[in-house]
Amino acid sequence: MASPLPAAFGDDPSFAELLAARPGLSADPLAGLMMEEVALARIAAAVGTPAWVYSAGTLRRRLAALRGALDGAGLNATIHYAMKANDNLAVVRVLAAGGAGADVVSEGELLAARAAGVPASAIVFSGVGKTEADLRRALAEDIFQINAESVEEIEALSIIATAMGRTARVALRVNPDVDAKTHAKITTGLAENKFGVAIGDAPAIYARMAELPGIEPIGIAMHIGSQITAGMSAYRAAYAKAAELVRTLRTAGLPVQRVDCGGGLGIPYRDEIAPPPEALAGAIKATLGDLGLPVMIEPGRWLAGPAGLLLSRVVLVKHGATRRFVVLDAAMNDLARPAMYDAWHGILPLAPAALVAPRTPADIVGPVCETGDTFARDRALPAMKAGDLVALLDAGAYGATMSSTYNARPLAPEVMVDGDRFAVVRDRQPIEDLLARQHMPDWLT
Ligand code: LLP
Repeated sequence: MASPLPAAFGDDPSFAELLAARPGLSADPLAGLMMEEVALARIAAAVGTPAWVYSAGTLRRRLAALRGALDGAGLNATIHYAMKANDNLAVVRVLAAGGAGADVVSEGELLAARAAGVPASAIVFSGVGKTEADLRRALAEDIFQINAESVEEIEALSIIATAMGRTARVALRVNPDVDAKTHAKITTGLAENKFGVAIGDAPAIYARMAELPGIEPIGIAMHIGSQITAGMSAYRAAYAKAAELVRTLRTAGLPVQRVDCGGGLGIPYRDEIAPPPEALAGAIKATLGDLGLPVMIEPGRWLAGPAGLLLSRVVLVKHGATRRFVVLDAAMNDLARPAMYDAWHGILPLAPAALVAPRTPADIVGPVCETGDTFARDRALPAMKAGDLVALLDAGAYGATMSSTYNARPLAPEVMVDGDRFAVVRDRQPIEDLLARQHMPDWLT
């Protein structure tokens, strides 16, 4: 399918390879790029662009695969979907209906989880700086578990819980000081990172938790980073330290009921070899299996990333002094990952002919007024013209949730596809919204 390209561009996967690796997508000779049984061009016509589109089938399939891997390893494990990846209520509903609980990091995510139908008994609350409002809400909802990250937080929680007449079930998040070898901005398990307590301090802090009123220490938690593709060694090292800590706590007579293994499982955006969920399950089994404890995981990206894409239309194609620029109507305010992490996202044209046309290099950019608003450089694309449609792939996680209204661009709508149906699951933000909550001080009017 791919035409010969200069060597510098030839390393990128071809359109055929991108499609083959994404079972929710296919190329129909007449309708062009399809998600499940819906032509994406139909969605663009119905809701306009830019627009996020999610595949319910892909969410279900991935959740089932993860569940199968955990069960296959003989683990007693629960899955708590990390809502920060994508907190759209329909997305969370699909995962909750498939048996996933939620991992939340704010009062807002907790409300969204509940609104989507996740029972409080399946919610874990993570985060390095939970506010009093966050903690009060967690206690009022009587959620499954709060992952505490500092002595300061535990002491504050004890006071709040006691005042509310509640007992907080608390897991202590420890920082194992392992290098997950991921992007510096999303690694979390190094001693220099802000997360968790030093593993050496954990026994004393856990003992203190057992003494504090309103606190029930129930286990330990870890999360070493995100988009981990460098094999399982960092996971194994971290979980081995967790197992050792559990043994130390038990020897000291401190009860440990469960271990939260965090999220982080990476996905192939380009052609990375990402460890399958069986590898994660195997690493958990090998390191923590002997303890006879239930375990939890908090995946976000692995479940939602490949299930979504960002639909966009070409505004114009301009030929710069040295490069061809394809300017889209989507920008870094919509999908921030390329600007923020130099992330590579696959880009496919929607038109059937474009999927098989000869390709030459282009820079795919957004209309925002900074050079960082670049989705791809030197990407092999067919001839494109104003009005053509493209899909930015693997945008289901950390896509819409990281959007902003920079350059006064309203938030894009979200659409869910399920078999041959699709529905708008969040409206495009009306442009009037951008002004609606602003106030002119009276001395300026
Ligand atoms: N649990 C905790 C405590 C976390 O902090 C995170 C992600 C997760 C679970 C889920 O991690 P996942 O399975 O999705 O890797 N915006 C970045 C990713 C930030 C991840 C933050 N924490 C990106 O677009 O790559």
